Amino acid sequence: MILVVGGAGYIGSHLVKELVENEEVIVLDNLSTGHREAVDSRAIFVEGDLGNEEVLQMIFKSYPIKAVMHFAAYSLVGESVIDPLKYYENNVASTLRLLKVMMNNHVKNFIFSSTAAVYGIPAAEMIDEKTETSPINPYGHSKLAIEQILADFKAAYELHYVILRYFNAAGAHESAQIGESHNPETHLIPIILQQLAGHRDKVSVFGSDYETPDGTCIRDYIHVNDLACAHILALKALLSKEKSAEVYNLGNGHGFSVKEVIETCEKVTGLKATVEMADRRAGDPARLVASSQKIFSELGWKAERNLEQIISDAWKWHQTQLY
Ligand code: UFG
Repeated sequence: MILVVGGAGYIGSHLVKELVENEEVIVLDNLSTGHREAVDSRAIFVEGDLGNEEVLQMIFKSYPIKAVMHFAAYSLVGESVIDPLKYYENNVASTLRLLKVMMNNHVKNFIFSSTAAVYGIPAAEMIDEKTETSPINPYGHSKLAIEQILADFKAAYELHYVILRYFNAAGAHESAQIGESHNPETHLIPIILQQLAGHRDKVSVFGSDYETPDGTCIRDYIHVNDLACAHILALKALLSKEKSAEVYNLGNGHGFSVKEVIETCEKVTGLKATVEMADRRAGDPARLVASSQKIFSELGWKAERNLEQIISDAWKWHQTQLY
């Protein structure tokens, strides 16, 4: 059985939907940002906090857990600058508690959701896993801290782990049964789609004077189901002992500017967005584009869905948005 912590969240719920096809799954989520409806009915659901040692003990004592996949983190850069305690408490302290309970129960396989934010403002055009890590906000620091802890636990306690550094997760399940639903929403693609659907007055473009061809920030958007597939492969590699301490980037390898994303949303939906140029948002690097060559050559994973597919699946979800 696989324990998915944060399995009611955006990325966790998409992973669970794939994972239940081949594994027994138990989800632990405190529903602070996740949605109960997002959890596939084939999974066992426990409402509880990652930081609650008693709940964790109960799960490890009651179920034969062979691996843990950890999605339960706060992930807003701006919020992490304003409230670092919240980020270090949940993303670091609670994760450490989870790892402690895992070690005590001899569960030693771990898949960890990390982020492009560990790279800070990278000099590299294409970021690979050897690019220097140098976070510029508490969110990135909190994720990098756990990456270091995992390496130390590997050396001392024989923990086996795979770290997956996501670039910009976007899109929705092709069935449109689950998708992205944050409150408040801060991510670019859902904000544009909400505007196109008439739920917002305008889309603000945060900065048009960056050193990029059209002056707006460039990001690497990756379909949430491509992310889910990468987790399944990583889990397989971990359980078969093919891998025991790895870090992989997960991106499409193509960068799109904010303006290009808006244009693609207009093309996919056939609607015209109302857009205003606004000031830069604090902490935004100009360009973040992944090289995912390593996971392709080692595990055979590559992103299958392009930006149009991402947006058309997100749009389909947006029409029915069930939660
Ligand atoms: N943007 C706008 N207007 C908006 C929202 C976003 O112009 O209303 C711009 C942002 O400035 C950025 C781009 O669109 O240039 C993408 O912004 P998102 O908020 O969608 O995503 P981020 O790149 O800020 O964040 C993502 C993940 C984080 C992760 C970060 C790494 O959501 O968890 O990448 O830098 F930390």
